[in-house]
Amino acid sequence: MIIASNLKANLTRVKTAEYLSELEKFLSAKNISQEVLVFPASSSLDAHAGRAIIGAQNAYPAQNGAFTGEIGVEHLDEFGIKTILIGHSERRHVIGESQKLIAQKFDFYSKLGFKIVYCIGEPLEVRKSGNEKMMHYLDAQYEGIDANYENLIIAYEPVWAIGTGLTPTLEEIESLHAELKKKSHAPLLYGGSVKITNVKEVLALDNVDGILVGSAALKVEDFCMMIESAQNLEN
Ligand code: PGA
Repeated sequence: MIIASNLKANLTRVKTAEYLSELEKFLSAKNISQEVLVFPASSSLDAHAGRAIIGAQNAYPAQNGAFTGEIGVEHLDEFGIKTILIGHSERRHVIGESQKLIAQKFDFYSKLGFKIVYCIGEPLEVRKSGNEKMMHYLDAQYEGIDANYENLIIAYEPVWAIGTGLTPTLEEIESLHAELKKKSHAPLLYGGSVKITNVKEVLALDNVDGILVGSAALKVEDFCMMIESAQNLEN
């Protein structure tokens, strides 16, 4: 399974290094065979030797250049980073990234062979408007995206479940994941208020290939417990 933590604008460079060092100790001690990804803040990116894969939460689709506040491939190359999160709901809804820009990033980073964790998800009012409208909304998030890209992981994260403690029911997650699997055979993660108390149930669902965790992964011990749950399910 794929277990990913999105640290967002949390944990400084020093705190991230401590986090990763604890994580690596755990991964070796428990001989973990799950795929573990960590997305630190841009200013906390660094070279990393270990089992966990480090990815960028965002980067501009350019080598470098006049893109104030952004980083480019050059900054990722410096640390050997070849994994990127694209389309996260906070980039779409808080920062205001359009599907056009998101698709440009996807195109650019897929051509470079990056592992892409591509996020999709609907706001609450869309979910309340019924299944057909919701699927239509999610379809639009595949516009300009190569759903057959070989190094793709998709993360379904309902916007209203992110950081709120609310989650869809297990049945809702399972049926939506079944629908989404028809659009792409890429591994499909669930994200949105996954925590130690619900992780086992979520990971056990059909068509859930892993999780993307924000708040509940900020404490490395908790993230490790979630990884261990995944490991136990597979054993
Ligand atoms: P959350 O965030 O676990 O805090 O809901 C998930 C995410 O944004 O990827």
